Amino acid sequence: MELAAEIIDLHKYYFLGDNVVKALNGVSLEIPKGDFVAIMGSSGSGKSTLLNLLGALDRPTSGKYILGGHDVSQLDDDELSAIRNQMIGFIFQSYNLIAQYTVLENIEVPLYYGVRPMNAADRMKCRDLANEVGLGDRLDHRPFQLSGGQQQRVAIARALANDPEIILADEPTGNLDSTTEAEIMDTLRKLNEEGRTIIMVTHENEIARQAKRQIFMKDGVIAGTGIFPGPSAVAPVGGGVSNDDSESDEADEWVDLS
Ligand SMILES: Nc1ncnc2c1ncn2[C@@H]1O[C@H](COP(=O)(O)OP(=O)(O)OP(=O)(O)O)[C@@H](O)[C@H]1O
Ligand SMILES: [Mg+2]
Repeated sequence: MELAAEIIDLHKYYFLGDNVVKALNGVSLEIPKGDFVAIMGSSGSGKSTLLNLLGALDRPTSGKYILGGHDVSQLDDDELSAIRNQMIGFIFQSYNLIAQYTVLENIEVPLYYGVRPMNAADRMKCRDLANEVGLGDRLDHRPFQLSGGQQQRVAIARALANDPEIILADEPTGNLDSTTEAEIMDTLRKLNEEGRTIIMVTHENEIARQAKRQIFMKDGVIAGTGIFPGPSAVAPVGGGVSNDDSESDEADEWVDLS
């Protein structure tokens, strides 16, 4: 099994004056190529911290992160941003588009940071990506002229500009209505079927169910894996992965996470 990413006993502490916030307390995780993982857990449980580390946006306090065969903690800042740019595409809840840029320019942004200047083929590829996400007729529009779902589709196209192997999404449907949410999830599923590895943070059971597996964070550790059984904030014990819909039959195996 080839791994897209592997983390080993990852800790992340934030030091605020005399206070230490232990956001991650020893997380180990193997993510095979082509995986589609949903990360769940209550607010403050460490989901975004984990995603930021997986995205090489930050370094762990201790532990190992192997991305594309490199130990991320051993890389200097330039190497870190190079590997991030080459291997990872990001999608955020609030889209994070640049307000004064057009749709096409927003999609091109990752290429501005590439190892070589952008060329005509790159620009054509970004147009193709805009077409793929259904925004081919909106290339010159600016974010404020688009709906939330359209803005998120620009963000998805932008995440694909460098043809990354891994897509990280922090609550990608958090600001969207249910119809648009379904469209965005269709797009993510399609990208996964094409072979890309997707790691997504979500609060919503219905969204998490659409991933191949689910991981539950609690107090900075992985508390369990499986399907989230309902609104009572419970999760399964141990490492078993369940992808069927019969979780109510397995209620004895779930533990209260609240
Ligand atoms: N830059 C930071 N400096 C200090 N503490 C931080 C920082 N980022 C996160 N934390 C703390 O680390 C813990 C985990 O935060 P994180 O953002 O990972 O939670 P989360 O699970 O993503 O929550 P939410 O569902 O609310 O987004 C929290 O206690 C948070 O306050
Ligand atoms: Mg978060």
